[in-house]
Amino acid sequence: MASWFEQYFPNFGACPPRSWLRSEAPLLSLNGTWRFRYSGLADAPSDFSHADLDDSAWDTITVPSHWQLAGYGVPAYTNVQYPFPVDPPFVPQENPTGDYRRTFVVPPGFLAGAGRAVLRFDGVDSAFSVWVNGSEIGRSTGSRLPAEFDITHALSGSGVNVLAVQVHQWSSASYLEDQDMWWLSGIFRDVTLLSRPAGGVDDVFVHAGYDARTGAGQLRADSGAGARITIDEIGVEAAAGQTVTIGGIEPWSAENPRLYEAEVAAGFERIRLRIGFRTVAIVDGVFTVNGVPIKLRGVNRHEMNPDRGRSVTESDMLADVLLMKRHNINAVRTSHYPPHPRFLELCDEYGLWVMAECDLETHGFLLGAWRNNPSDDPRWQLAMVDRMRRTVERDKNHPSVIMWSLGNESGSGQNLAAMAEWTRARDPSRPLHYEHDRSVPDVDVYSRMYAGHEEVALIGTRSEPPLTDAAADRRRRGMPFVLCEYAHAMGNGPGGLLEYQQLFESSPRCMGGFAWEWIDHGLRQLDQQGRQRWAYGGDYGEPVHDGNFVADGLVFPDRTPSPGLLDFAAVIAPVLIEADPAGVRLTNRYDASDLSGLRFDWTLEIGGAESGGGALQVPAVPAHGSVVLSLPDTAGLGGLADGERWLTVRARLASDTLWAQAGHVVAVGQVRLDGAETGLIAGPPAGPPSTQMGPIQMGSQIQIGSAVFDSRTGSLLRIGTIPVLASPRLDLWRAPTDNDKRGGIEALEPAWRAMGLHRLRHRVVSVSVEGLILTVRGRVGAAGRDLLFDVEYRWSGLGEASVSLEVAVTAHRDLPVALPRVGIQFELPGELDEVDWFGRGPGEEYPDTGYAQRVARFRSNVDDMQKPYFYPQENGRRADVRWAEVRDHAGRGLRITATPVCGFAIHRWSTAQLDQAGHHAELHDEGRLFITLDAAVQGIGSASCGPGVLPQYQLRSLPGPFRFAFEAI
Ligand code: GAL
Repeated sequence: MASWFEQYFPNFGACPPRSWLRSEAPLLSLNGTWRFRYSGLADAPSDFSHADLDDSAWDTITVPSHWQLAGYGVPAYTNVQYPFPVDPPFVPQENPTGDYRRTFVVPPGFLAGAGRAVLRFDGVDSAFSVWVNGSEIGRSTGSRLPAEFDITHALSGSGVNVLAVQVHQWSSASYLEDQDMWWLSGIFRDVTLLSRPAGGVDDVFVHAGYDARTGAGQLRADSGAGARITIDEIGVEAAAGQTVTIGGIEPWSAENPRLYEAEVAAGFERIRLRIGFRTVAIVDGVFTVNGVPIKLRGVNRHEMNPDRGRSVTESDMLADVLLMKRHNINAVRTSHYPPHPRFLELCDEYGLWVMAECDLETHGFLLGAWRNNPSDDPRWQLAMVDRMRRTVERDKNHPSVIMWSLGNESGSGQNLAAMAEWTRARDPSRPLHYEHDRSVPDVDVYSRMYAGHEEVALIGTRSEPPLTDAAADRRRRGMPFVLCEYAHAMGNGPGGLLEYQQLFESSPRCMGGFAWEWIDHGLRQLDQQGRQRWAYGGDYGEPVHDGNFVADGLVFPDRTPSPGLLDFAAVIAPVLIEADPAGVRLTNRYDASDLSGLRFDWTLEIGGAESGGGALQVPAVPAHGSVVLSLPDTAGLGGLADGERWLTVRARLASDTLWAQAGHVVAVGQVRLDGAETGLIAGPPAGPPSTQMGPIQMGSQIQIGSAVFDSRTGSLLRIGTIPVLASPRLDLWRAPTDNDKRGGIEALEPAWRAMGLHRLRHRVVSVSVEGLILTVRGRVGAAGRDLLFDVEYRWSGLGEASVSLEVAVTAHRDLPVALPRVGIQFELPGELDEVDWFGRGPGEEYPDTGYAQRVARFRSNVDDMQKPYFYPQENGRRADVRWAEVRDHAGRGLRITATPVCGFAIHRWSTAQLDQAGHHAELHDEGRLFITLDAAVQGIGSASCGPGVLPQYQLRSLPGPFRFAFEAI
């Protein structure tokens, strides 16, 4: 027998959808502590709604919240697959249900002037019925959509009212809400009682356009008869429906989010609105706002908090907006549902372009070849159009919203067409987006997710392969192009960002894109040992789940920026600072602003030490313009012999903004001044230095200067007083990244494991002293495999204190796939955990990441040099390291010099441990330091969902011999 929530469109009793408005009419927040009764089944006793039920023995719960995060049931994570049988519109009988109750008193005067009382739910997941004083008021689905109910008739004449809400975890609507995220239930957004004055402003639709040719704004506010709009600042006073033109308007944009305070009044009600004038138009296949093409440097944002799930607070929302603005992000796709309404107000105020997406995804039908997909089944049409309507009506007044998106990954079909048709009729001012139907019948922009660079290059030049239907192809080819998802930020990475950005910049058709995604959806959990960890799919014992695919954000669950976010900020920076034969070239990448909002300064570093600096005078370069500045005069600073000379130029905010203070750095560029082109110095002169010390046999040991070796194994035992716990030996492995693991048939990790790279054995073939050199020959291979590597370690003296090592590797046959790494690893005592280096930093870098890093001298320590990726994996490599020193607290340690540079990483755990751990919290200090020095490393790519490593960043052949020197300090 079907329950009410198994109807195709079970909603009834709600008021028509309307804007989320700030009225001066009274309101009463019903957030707070409610009585709560949880049941694993939907057919719990029906007494819950009775006004006189004694609920004093029930538990209590905070509203808003998800009940799974308050101790009832458990969160569950699935990506594509539904966690229940695909039997629409039916759901399992085991349908967790929460009964919520509270009382409230309508304040005196609340309903003055024949007002109505409207109860608003901003988000209830997934289906609920509402009862007031024992009378049923209505039912609703649409988890991330508002529902309002007029409860005036049900209020008690005097005193206390009893509000009862029954929420079911599963409903027919769950088939429409298959987004890739945790399944979390309950009343998770605000509940508010609103006073709605008779004859007031029930709704308003403000149309505020901007004419870039005249600089005039055009305003029309559609509302009920008798409503008037006023904007004191520009002397506007107009009736609803009347169009007024106002000269000298400052338009709204993400770069300059100019808002005008407006008031809409009708009867006794006044609404406060912040209006932004702007016009979105697709002109000759190019996406423009206010007459200029714009590029989206965007992210996909899910709402997430590690303790509260999607029940986010104002401070979570503000934190997101501030972090985005401070990392040069200018756009958000509200993947894959309307966010908390406050978030869009923040986007208006702080300046972020928004693609507002409907709460819709039916991806799980893909696994059944789209059989019975709701998108093409007329029985679901009411429900789907209702979702779109509620999305558009709620958010239609936000200047930040420049596109509507019908939803995500829901196949194709007539109901999407119906949603599009409704939206076009209601709001012709905003283009429509939907990605999943490549023939793009219903939309205005061509959108793809995770298309590789080559394909984006074709699309960018409108030369992609045609659709079979010529008319559809013509239509699509004429559209702007957006990557609604790209740069899958799972774990270490994404790589390949720079090349995407270059494609976007070089093609007018490309309007940019939205990185996937903003935040890791980890939930805070204690493991069996009481250690705090970020939980992912399976950590709650879910029988069906998709593991750590839930975490692919640019910020960690606690909103700490990942290296990927810093890279993204650098790659999308609004000004590009590059070396030019004539000095330094600055390219303005703002869409509409000149560079007058920024100031520039320089510092000179010689041999990594800061040696001078000053301000740079920069003209107000217009949008998309560039300028070449001559270099500041640094000739008198230091001498050439003092080391590499690097000029670092920084662009900073010239004055305070809402989102950062004056001086905040938006872009950095470096120019090498000592003549070397690439930033790498040549190696030291060939041939042994005059002070070279030869190997001396001393019993069972061989000594070269202060370095002592085991004469049988050739292992380095110590350098001076520093014991070497494991001698340097060939390292071809890394703990696979999420990007190494995935990528279908091209995934690297399975190929690496098939080669046995994670379990290489090292055999000493010979130890010999040949002249001034101790040569240790080894052979390296994995059990059961015949892919063998020969490696020669050639040790020689470099004076009393130093020893140098040259490593030469050859393979017995061609490498079947790119290798993870080629370098050496060795182990030192755990106390040597303070690190100085001269190279790129301060953060980690791989061949196709690390754009936020620069060449300088850095100081850190082992713990701070780790990146606690959501799922343990390769991390922490510093690039182009000329030298590094590791020391204990007393300053005793080892200096490592590379010739000319190397990758450097240091961990308190072995690669094997890192490879095997399932959560960062499981990693334990092995009481020693594992140091990796690499000559080459495989790039990162974004194959966890997207293209792999670009050819130029693949480690496909072994590097030639590489050299290091070690010195006790
Ligand atoms: C897309 C989807 C996102 C997310 C992503 C992978 O296909 O739209 O919701 O699942 O892949 O992380």
